[in-house]
Amino acid sequence: MQVDVLLGLQWGDEGKGKVVDVLTPRYDVITRFQGGPNAGHTLEFNNIKHVLHTIPSGIFRGDKINVIGNGVVIDPSIFRKEIQSLKNIGFDLTKTLYISKKAHLILPTHRLLDAASEAAKGASKIGSTLKGIGPTYRDKIGRDGLRVGDILHNFKEKYQTRVDSHIELLTKFYHFDYQQALSDYEKEWFEGIEVIQQFQLIDSEHFINDQLLAGKSIIAEGAQGTMLDIDFGSYPFVTSSNTIAAGACTGLGIAPNKIGRVYGIFKAYCTRVGSGPFPTELLDETGETLRRIGNEFGSTTGRPRRCGWLDLVALRYAIMINGVTDLIMMKADVMDQFEEIKICTSYNIDGTSTINFPNEIDGDVVPNYEVLEGWKTDLTGVESTTQFPAALSSYIKFIEDYLKVPITIVSVGPNRSQTIER
Ligand code: GDP
Ligand code: IMO
Ligand code: MG
Repeated sequence: MQVDVLLGLQWGDEGKGKVVDVLTPRYDVITRFQGGPNAGHTLEFNNIKHVLHTIPSGIFRGDKINVIGNGVVIDPSIFRKEIQSLKNIGFDLTKTLYISKKAHLILPTHRLLDAASEAAKGASKIGSTLKGIGPTYRDKIGRDGLRVGDILHNFKEKYQTRVDSHIELLTKFYHFDYQQALSDYEKEWFEGIEVIQQFQLIDSEHFINDQLLAGKSIIAEGAQGTMLDIDFGSYPFVTSSNTIAAGACTGLGIAPNKIGRVYGIFKAYCTRVGSGPFPTELLDETGETLRRIGNEFGSTTGRPRRCGWLDLVALRYAIMINGVTDLIMMKADVMDQFEEIKICTSYNIDGTSTINFPNEIDGDVVPNYEVLEGWKTDLTGVESTTQFPAALSSYIKFIEDYLKVPITIVSVGPNRSQTIER
């Protein structure tokens, strides 16, 4: 058996949560392998709308096992709130959610360091989610992190050593007024540690490989998107983990030859939240319309998302990096009323046209567009490809011909049921 990976090909918020929930019945185990509560994955079914931050999106489908892998960073206070709100609607996960002992903990001071670092950067800030992601991964790589497994031995002592060194940084380097915020965070953080202890803390690399040997099927749920990858995204305006397919190997402890299908998700247009380059961004009324109809406001921070046309240059790059085998196109319904739709097929850089995604993206990149006819049809009630308007079929064919990967799922609304397989 192999591990299938589902990940975002753009700048996050492609609809990963929805599709993982749709695909979960086909899998025995659902895992997260990177990122943390910077993610906001939305699921909708039976009049329930739920946003998950740390927990895999397979939890609403009965007795499936969900695993938070070693590559994930966990904020105990956010985790506790997620668990509580799921309990309130009747989902008790204590038997079905496992947590890797090697996953790193986001300390209260990591969150403060994120805020201090962003404030110090001023106008050139990353626009992070302020969840402490960057500082936590920095400590992990700097070999100063605190892991879930540490909860089991001399925890308070280890915690205090890290917090003391963070306080030094906050006061001496950032001159950051931390006291009130730290005492506010700490209480709920330690309550969160108690909640984590109610779950099975496992050696997830052994668990996952044993499951494969036993013939179980596994899906790995990406967070963020390829263009936010620490190595291949628009650095430094990226997140701090490997969001790409290779991240599933290091974030779960599986060998590269254990990766099976790679589902790459994209919106029928583009969005980005936070700072950084975005070649096809629309700063006009059309961008405003996409934001309004697509309800493009961050699931985690509520910030308005920047909107633009579909960028095939960036998608082609993301497909190459990830080895995508299946494409999934989301939110086609958002463009239902458009007379015409533009697609970026190349960039003009210093007077030269290219389809290769460049190393540096700045104001000098001018997208070249093809203009396609809009379908002017309400897709939200469409149940099969036979009901697709011709202009939508042409839009799909244009993308497939360019990218040379089949689009196997088209999503036409936020609900679980509004999903069409091709
Ligand atoms: P994720 O982070 O990739 O899981 O995506 P988010 O949940 O942050 O953002 C996707 C948003 O689009 C959520 O509000 C979903 O409910 C919504 N959504 C997902 N698929 C569709 C779709 O096909 N059409 C529409 N209109 N909304 C969708
Ligand atoms: P999901 O999983 C969209 C963005 C932030 C910022 C940059 C760095 O829901 O798709 P960080 O807090 O990670 O240090 O922020 O990355 N970002 C996301 N954008 N969706 C996400 O997750 C994101 N997670 C982080 O806005 O630009
Ligand atoms: Mg999201």
